[in-house]
Formats: sequence, structure tokens, C-alpha cells
Amino acid sequence: MHTAQAGILADVPAAARYLLFRQRSGTDPSAPSTALQALASEVDGHATVVGLGRSLVLAVGSHIAPLHDFPSYSTAATDIPATPAALWLWLRGDDHGELLQRGRTLSQLLSPAFTLDQAIDGYRYDIGRDLSGYEDGTENPSGDDAITAAVVSDQGCGLDGSSFVAVQQWLHDFEQLDAMSPQQRDHCIGRRISDNQEIDDAPASAHVKRTAQEDFTPEAFVLRRSMPWTCGNDAGLIFVAFGHSFDSFAALLRRMVGEDDGIRDALFDFTRPLTGSYFWCPPVKASGRLDLSAIGLQG
Ligand code: HEM
Repeated sequence: MHTAQAGILADVPAAARYLLFRQRSGTDPSAPSTALQALASEVDGHATVVGLGRSLVLAVGSHIAPLHDFPSYSTAATDIPATPAALWLWLRGDDHGELLQRGRTLSQLLSPAFTLDQAIDGYRYDIGRDLSGYEDGTENPSGDDAITAAVVSDQGCGLDGSSFVAVQQWLHDFEQLDAMSPQQRDHCIGRRISDNQEIDDAPASAHVKRTAQEDFTPEAFVLRRSMPWTCGNDAGLIFVAFGHSFDSFAALLRRMVGEDDGIRDALFDFTRPLTGSYFWCPPVKASGRLDLSAIGLQG
């Protein structure tokens, strides 16, 4: 039996730590495979979700066809950066101290082949709000629909149960947000903050108008598992969207930046992405270990 890493389908935890690694240079060519196998026997896919970047899949001599480079865009007002990484770990829990310790243990385990590039602490805010105050995740698919949106099927052993994830760190400009009237903010998102109801006559630039998943052909459903982050005085959202491919995310982002019709998502009025990466999240085996057979490794 092959299944998705359970942390993908579970609710967003109270606390999280995101670790991004690059490959260490000058190591033995077998080092990435050995370190990955060590990681696979250490994590369960629930408390720690694992995503492999394209460079890592190539480094172990393999290929996952849908795993390609993150799209970058330049618009008149906003740059959408692509910042590839070799390995992404999403540590999930409820205690930042425990997450820090777990992250240190895993970083040491990976150190023969990987260097930690970035660590970001995330958390759940209130009932699952973005730091703008708006509830995030309302239109997420759930149950079987979540599995259909986020998990690969009918692609064969090793791929079935896997998932593709887009990750972006967004930095909010709170002064900009404060300068907007409550109605401007509601129109920016396309929902009322007071009761989370969708505003039918919101402008076409409203975020939920740009990203209405049923309005795409084919429909562009993703499973979002985003969480706020804070570092010193900077804060924003770690946007995380799982899919059975990257197609839905790419279509959504394309429309947000106005590539389809020239209308830019009003979200950019108060926030911008600092990073953007794609990862492949391997499935787990019945034993609970990561299944790395799709890239030719024993888990
Ligand atoms: C800082 C960045 C972002 C913030 C603060 C944000 C916030 C929100 C909020 C408040 C909603 C409405 C409630 C809900 O259905 O979840 C929403 C909906 C949505 N967002 Fe975002 N979002 C961000 C970035 C993105 C990005 C980058 C994408 C995809 C490329 C995206 C895709 C969606 C989708 C698909 C929906 C549901 C639309 C629907 O079908 O009604 N969001 N977002």
C-alpha cells in the first residue's frame, strides 16, 4: 500500500519550522543518496513532511517528469522570484523548542551531503488566519476532494501517493495594509473580514476572483497549507500548495500576475513573494517510511 505523507492531508499544526537545504559541494557522488536514505528512515511524513527539489533528483541520477523549475515573472510592479532548493522539510508540531531540536537533529543527519540555507518559523494565527486578518483555506478541497487535488494516482508504484508542492515566502507590508480602508481591504481579498462571506461584486482584481478554482479550464484545485511567519519585525505568509501536478498552481499564479488578461491580483498591494520553489514529496510505504523507489533508492 502506498499513501501520501500524512502531514499533507492533516490540518495545519499550531507551530511549524521550514528548513531549506542546498547540496554541499565537493562531496562523494553517493553522498546525497546516502543522506536521503538516512532521512527516509528517520521521518514519518506526518510530523515532518519532506520535499525533494529537481537538483537533488538529478543528483541521485533520476528524473521525475513533472518536477520542473518554478516560473518567475516580472510585472510593472512586482517580481515573482524563482529560488530553487535541493530539499525542503516542513517540521510540524506544537512546540517551537521541540521543532528547533528536531531540525538540528535532522540537519546533522543530512550534513554529509546538505547545508542548511534557510530556517523559518511558522505558526497558526487564531482560527487559521493570514496576518492580514482574513481566514485562509476556506475554499480548500476536503476529504476525497483533497486527495484528488493533492495526491498522484494511476502513475504507477513509487509515484502514486506522492505530491507536488509549491512553496513561497511572502512578506507583508503592514503600513500599506493599515493605509487601506476596511472596504479596500475586503475588496482586495474579495471576502468580508467580518463574516468571511465572498463579495459578489468585488473588483476583478480581488484575490478570490483571480484564483476562483472552478473558473479555470480544467479546474485548478490545490490543497493549501499556508502558515504565517515572523522573523524580527518582518512577517507574512509561507504559502504552501500541494497538487497532483504543478499545473493548477501555475495557472493560478499566472492569472494572479495578470498574464491572462492584464489584471493583477490586488493582493500585491500589500504583500510580495521573496522566494518560490517546487518540490516533489515522495509517498510513504505501509511501514511508514518514505518510498524513494521512484528515484531508484531503497527507503
Ligand atoms: C500572501 C499571499 C496570500 C494570501 C495572504 C492569501 C490569502 C487568501 C485568502 C484570505 C483567501 C480566501 C479564503 C480561502 O478560500 O482560503 C484565499 C483564497 C485562495 N487563494 Fe490565496 N493567498 C495568498 C497567495 C496565494 C497564491 C500564491 C495562490 C496560488 C498561486 C493562492 C491561491 C488561492 C486559492 C486557489 C484560493 C481559493 C479561491 C477560490 O476557489 O475561492 N493564494 N487566499
